[in-house]
Amino acid sequence: MKHLLITLTIAALGLAATPAMAQSAAPAQNDALYQALGAKPGLEALMEVFVAGLKADKRIGEQFKDTKSSYLQEQLVDQFCVVSGGPCKYQGADMKSAHAGMEINKAQFNALVEVLQFAMDARGIPFATQNQLLARLAPMHRDVITAK
Ligand code: HEM
Repeated sequence: MKHLLITLTIAALGLAATPAMAQSAAPAQNDALYQALGAKPGLEALMEVFVAGLKADKRIGEQFKDTKSSYLQEQLVDQFCVVSGGPCKYQGADMKSAHAGMEINKAQFNALVEVLQFAMDARGIPFATQNQLLARLAPMHRDVITAK
């Protein structure tokens, strides 16, 4: 049920997203979400659980088999820091180039969201905070999903 709710949230937000949001999420107005996520130490701990979960996942783990965990974790910490209004700079690839040629479909995207949700649960992040983060990430599906 929780998963369904988030999938629906993503679908709704996707429809509502403006073209400007397609490249990246809308700029954060303040750092409230970043603080709620536990700032830099909170994000670092979350990304460690998240990336381990991605590699172990039966549905999408294969896609991360050659990925260096420490590298992806660092990129995700910076990216999620920016997205949540924190004082960071994301210097990794834009979402379109980073996922080009991977033929990612909607089910795989939803699987990643679910793994992130499990990681947030494991870190004790409140449901409302989880949804705020997912809402900021949702517009990225336009650049990440390239297959049916
Ligand atoms: C909102 C959804 C997503 C976000 C925010 C995201 C974010 C990122 C970021 C920040 C990077 C690093 C870019 C760089 O190298 O500079 C990356 C790489 C990558 N992503 Fe995603 N991603 C998303 C969805 C997905 C999905 C659904 C898949 C596949 C199921 C996926 C597979 C990968 C892979 C395989 C890499 C390359 C990792 C490596 O080996 O360096 N991503 N992603």
